[in-house]
Amino acid sequence: MDNLYLLELINETRQRGGGILLNYEDKPSVVVLTVEKYNSLLNGQPHQAEDSQAAIMSSFGQAAAEARRVLVTGGAGYIGGHLVSELVKRNFEVVVLDNLSTGRRENIDPRAVFVEGDLSDENLLRDLFAQNRFEAVFHMAACLEVEESVREPEKYLENNAINTQKLLAAMNEAGVKKIIFSSTAAVYGGSNEVPIAETSHLRPNNPYGSSKLLAERLIKYYCENLGFKAVVFRYFNACGFDVQARILPTHQSHLIFNVMAVVKGERQALQVFGNDYPTFDGTCIRDYVHVLDIVLPHISALDKLAGDLNFEIINIGTGKGYSVAQIINGASEVLNKIIPMEIAPRRQGDAAVTVADNSKLKKLLGYELSHSGLPEILASSWEVLKNY
Ligand SMILES: NC(=O)c1ccc[n+]([C@@H]2O[C@H](COP(=O)([O-])OP(=O)(O)OC[C@H]3O[C@@H](n4cnc5c(N)ncnc54)[C@H](O)[C@@H]3O)[C@@H](O)[C@H]2O)c1
Repeated sequence: MDNLYLLELINETRQRGGGILLNYEDKPSVVVLTVEKYNSLLNGQPHQAEDSQAAIMSSFGQAAAEARRVLVTGGAGYIGGHLVSELVKRNFEVVVLDNLSTGRRENIDPRAVFVEGDLSDENLLRDLFAQNRFEAVFHMAACLEVEESVREPEKYLENNAINTQKLLAAMNEAGVKKIIFSSTAAVYGGSNEVPIAETSHLRPNNPYGSSKLLAERLIKYYCENLGFKAVVFRYFNACGFDVQARILPTHQSHLIFNVMAVVKGERQALQVFGNDYPTFDGTCIRDYVHVLDIVLPHISALDKLAGDLNFEIINIGTGKGYSVAQIINGASEVLNKIIPMEIAPRRQGDAAVTVADNSKLKKLLGYELSHSGLPEILASSWEVLKNY
């Protein structure tokens, strides 16, 4: 090993409070510790490191006792990966809990600590909270395929609602009482309200939406009865990428992904489900919000929870919709390609227009969206998806 590399390693380990985990072929293989850290572990620090993961867990917080440590469930996912990247940029100590069911190890910023495990594992949750003093939990882990939820409703009940309760119980036991939760516009179901405010009727029309609504209610219950504080975010259509963060997609079913598949020649034409909706061009209108405009308000929410905010439900959307045809035309222009489309029958349960009322996001969190212009969404999607 040359001296320069050794020096870099020493600097890295010092900056991270004494420890660094090196991966080989995607698996944790070597833990590098400073001499001080090694000695302190030998001398029996509060929880002795039994394996490489425990070593790094115990090491990364001590030197930086002032750093804010948070848990991100689902941090290997598409939105979670972006959030983790933004948190570590701001010097948060981040622990990611993810079972990699859809997430990807390479989506996790190397400055975060990764714990591979399942939310349903109560012992793991207990250990995680015993070993860390988390300021808050960002709870993003979930299953989120609407069609799958219709086929396997119990899976959604289990993972999205029951596992949320397990997480809340572990948090309660450890006295960690702040949670920021990833909910979805699917809780509104096929609402005809335009725009959709947080106070709109909740009538989810699939088990995915129902399971998320159950989770929201559990969180509210903990706030009302057990002293928790929470922000529940209802995201509209998450899309786009932070190209610098190098996050890869985890799902392949949404419109923009399908548009890119046609541009790449993987599909011959884009299927448009219905062109006879009561919209200006007959195709459905949706609210597409860039993933950075989703994750950045989470960090504002964390600061608000440290103040007098107790429980809020907040939509994250742009308030401006694009029709399916507009997305296709926009992609044609930005990428300078012709995108063939074919009209298919309407899908059951699709509302004509789904657009967020985002006034609460602006008013309560002071957040102004700045990444959700269609060109940025499409160009960043192409940049990532063209090689994928
Ligand atoms: N993507 C969207 O358009 C969208 C819209 C509305 C709401 N949401 C919500 O945002 C959150 C993140 O969505 P995403 O698009 O990043 O999805 P994703 O599939 O990329 O991320 C979910 C992550 O959770 C992990 N996970 C799932 N079950 C787990 C379990 N039991 N234990 C540990 N880890 C588990 C997965 O491996 C994955 O990394 C979800 O809660 C979803 O419901 C997403």
